[in-house]
Amino acid sequence: MHAFDFYRGRRLRRTAVIRDLVRETVVTTNDLIMPYFVVENADAAFEKPIGAMPGQYQLGLDALSARVGRAMAKGLRAVLLFGLPAAKDERASGAYAEEGVVQRAVSRLKRDYPDLCVVTDVCLCEYTSHGHCGMLSPTGEVLNDPTLDLLARTALSHAKAGADIVAPSDMMDGRVGAIRAALDENGFSHIPIMSYAVKYASSFYGPFREAAESAPAFGDRKAYQMDPANAREAMREAAADLGEGADMLMVKPALPYLDILHALRQSCDAPLAAYHVSGEYSMLKAAAQNGWIDEKRAVMESMTAIKRAGADLIITYFAEDILDYIRA
Ligand code: PBG
Repeated sequence: MHAFDFYRGRRLRRTAVIRDLVRETVVTTNDLIMPYFVVENADAAFEKPIGAMPGQYQLGLDALSARVGRAMAKGLRAVLLFGLPAAKDERASGAYAEEGVVQRAVSRLKRDYPDLCVVTDVCLCEYTSHGHCGMLSPTGEVLNDPTLDLLARTALSHAKAGADIVAPSDMMDGRVGAIRAALDENGFSHIPIMSYAVKYASSFYGPFREAAESAPAFGDRKAYQMDPANAREAMREAAADLGEGADMLMVKPALPYLDILHALRQSCDAPLAAYHVSGEYSMLKAAAQNGWIDEKRAVMESMTAIKRAGADLIITYFAEDILDYIRA
């Protein structure tokens, strides 16, 4: 070795084949979950574009099934369902109604596609008249313990309809334990819970609230969702949910919180999901539509980064597009 020797990293970047041989992280169809928004008060063929999320739609039951069928033909294996009920009330009755919008969508999809993995978002905000994720006190505070029973009933009704995985996103304390108990007591001990354990009070949910018509009528969600400034707190939330029986944990949003995802990957053994949320989707779409970035490359770079940081699975509105990219 003489004085001018140095590390020649470029040797392993010289050709496409060599780069492929040494690649550390690869996104596959098995990593993806595609979210869909189902509308109750609409024709089955209803398909309404969501303004803030170009390429995403509010869907009637037939339209949903048709879209999912097309995506499955490209390799999609798992979906996450959100419901827009016909009516909202203080107790979020639509969330746990036997014939509610998500319950009907689950049984329809499981009938049409028995092999599809159907995940349901368990939350009350799309079903409450005030748009918060739990019951309210007379002074407008979101009550924790009175909400748990309703969340448990919601998760149970999803499982009864045929859901393969339930995913509570409300951020009430103790909800994973309450849901686990309700599932176990009713013959659903085989149904896993994917907990939105580490969910930040994020501005990046903005477009979703148009999509799901779930914006809070007053205030914000900072009294239950996490402060974006906190990392150690994420470890406590994760430990609490695992202790209550969560089978998988989620970090949400994804790209602004890769440090959290990475730290969790180091400290726990449970499968980790990352939710690339509506605002992350819309930013990429807007830049691409303006010709400012290459959409396909930016999407795949984002997904690779999320996996590299430690995600086992990724919930993303780009899932259908990524299936095309992977096959191409
Ligand atoms: C319901 C819920 C939200 C999202 C997922 N589940 C909205 C919120 O917490 O305000 C956001 C998803 C996204 O932005 O894509 N609580």
